[in-house]
Amino acid sequence: MDPTQFDQEKLSEIIEKYQEKKWGLIPLLQQIQEEIGFIPPESIEPIADALQMYPAQVQGVITFYAGFSLKPKGRCVLKVCRGTACHVKGSRSILRMIKKDLSLEEGETSPDYQFTLETVACLGACFLAPTMMVNRDYFGKLNPTKVTSVLGEYRKDSKEA
Ligand code: FES
Repeated sequence: MDPTQFDQEKLSEIIEKYQEKKWGLIPLLQQIQEEIGFIPPESIEPIADALQMYPAQVQGVITFYAGFSLKPKGRCVLKVCRGTACHVKGSRSILRMIKKDLSLEEGETSPDYQFTLETVACLGACFLAPTMMVNRDYFGKLNPTKVTSVLGEYRKDSKEA
């Protein structure tokens, strides 16, 4: 399914729940992010209206928090660590390999919405450097063989889904 074709009714229901609850901006955005997969840009104005805020305030919060995205992401979101510990252990070549394998640059999503590639400052698992996450799963002590097998698994999973 094309994730840009989201459930409008569900979106309106979520916004309706937070009507006039100015304190509810973050939980409201979290719920949209979780249930729709991203914050549709056209929802900014209705959100601002419901919470009696300015659209610029809503937009500001969305851009400030890395957990919110205005664009749909892939079913598998890869976060490759580019922190110091991982850098020392070769994260640059791991990232280069992933970019080539997926034909994606940082911040891009594949046209079929299978993969999104991102980098992060530290995944908090430096002892496992170099590391990456795919959705909620951690992978450490990466090397080219391991990366190929991880990507292969997620490709398979997406095909079976
Ligand atoms: S620097 Fe990569 S996990 Fe901390």
